[in-house]
Amino acid sequence: MPISVVILAAGQGKRMKSDLPKVLQPVAGRPLLQHVIDSARQLGTDDIHIVYGHGGERVRETLAGEHLTWALQAEQLGTGHALQQAMPGVPDGNLVLVLFGDVPLVQPSTMQRLIDAADGGNALGLLSVRMQDPTGYGRIVRDRAGNVARIVEHKDANQKERAIDEVNTGLMAASAKRMREWLGQLRNDNAQAEYYLTDVVVMAARAGLKVNAIAAADEDEVLGVNDKVQLAAVEAIHRRRRATELMLQGVTLVDPARFDARGTVTAGRDVHIDVNVVFEGYVSLGNRVRIGPNVLIRDCEIGDDAEIHANCVLDRAKVGARAIVGPFARLRPDAVLHEEVHVGNFVEVKKSELHKGAKANHLTYLGDATVGEKANIGAGTITCNYDGVNKFRTEIGAGAFIGSGSMLVAPVKIGANATIGAGSTITRDAPDDKLTLERSKQQTIDGWKRPVKRPKP
Ligand code: UD1
Ligand code: MG
Repeated sequence: MPISVVILAAGQGKRMKSDLPKVLQPVAGRPLLQHVIDSARQLGTDDIHIVYGHGGERVRETLAGEHLTWALQAEQLGTGHALQQAMPGVPDGNLVLVLFGDVPLVQPSTMQRLIDAADGGNALGLLSVRMQDPTGYGRIVRDRAGNVARIVEHKDANQKERAIDEVNTGLMAASAKRMREWLGQLRNDNAQAEYYLTDVVVMAARAGLKVNAIAAADEDEVLGVNDKVQLAAVEAIHRRRRATELMLQGVTLVDPARFDARGTVTAGRDVHIDVNVVFEGYVSLGNRVRIGPNVLIRDCEIGDDAEIHANCVLDRAKVGARAIVGPFARLRPDAVLHEEVHVGNFVEVKKSELHKGAKANHLTYLGDATVGEKANIGAGTITCNYDGVNKFRTEIGAGAFIGSGSMLVAPVKIGANATIGAGSTITRDAPDDKLTLERSKQQTIDGWKRPVKRPKP
């Protein structure tokens, strides 16, 4: 049966005390709602509906790149009413899977179990969980035979019902045709004067339909986010999960609690990662890569046996095999380091390609440059790539030796095996194999006196 996913995301999220709509609050740098969408996509369906309301335009703008069907719920009259807004877009012949935009950690495998529990539309699938403290949740009420009879919301429940620890997570799956009929019969004569989605359960049971409540793996998976405390809790669970995944792939994490993979990471064998390392976007690590403490890596590819020492920031860079970076290095977008390149402390590289074995070990800025094989860039070298308006390139040949404290004013070319004398400001091309330098002759001035401090008036 084809599946239509409906994600309820119109709630206001008052308890967030934020100008950002709740479903846009970030976990691992991505909106809550994005997590739910990404998981739903893994079910192999492209038919995803979002019920939006509060802060809706901002939500739509943020997710503009996604193929989604939007349904506006202008007034938040309850979860049943919310689902109803999306139903005109859902064909009768489909199975509808209802997800919540503020419950971001549900695994695709659990969603699939929920779909299976709906038995091709012949049953109502419900995701439940046992809670240590079920306060606030809808309780699952079973009849004597143990079948699910109905759900009662906390605010409507009596003492006996409140003692039930099996709760509704809110996620459901059922035949769209049946769901449409049930939603049409909802009433709001309850404690919150809302149209409760949960009331479809009693309708299903009365119609003789089986209600299959399947249990979530644990409380963590179905945690909802209503305030910043829960947001941090979800972030921590996400962080732990990602760390566990990588460790199971063979990555050594010195302390999984101090490692944060916010994007997608692929890693080879025997990768070693020290504490306080953050990955964002797509990060791929070759075999035996070692990463020191306090490193941020965003959208980078790092080759086999490369070492990133402590306190580096790498953003959209490529690091070749056996290269050594840091400590305290910064690789900015389009920094491409080939094999065995060394980039040391306080070196910044932007939009530059360093060929095999090139070295810039201390205090250097390389921007819009190409550096040939085995060239050695002395401490304090700067490619002056910007005249305040335009950017220009610097080309440094293979085997060149740039003396310390050189300013290479682009556009400029330094030849292969050229040597630049320390402290030079190079504004014209320097030929291959020769020493080029630019400095005034050293002088000593006789009779010069240091200035003396003038008395204050
Ligand atoms: C709901 C369930 C409850 C369950 C709990 C789990 C109902 C009636 N109750 O309660 O049984 O234990 O979730 O977390 O379904 N939303 C809309 N429009 C609305 C109201 C809500 O889009 O008019 C969205 C919210 O954005 C949210 C979701 O629906 O994503 C759940 O709404 P919420 O108000 O948090 O429901 P609960 O009272 O927590
Ligand atoms: Mg809720």
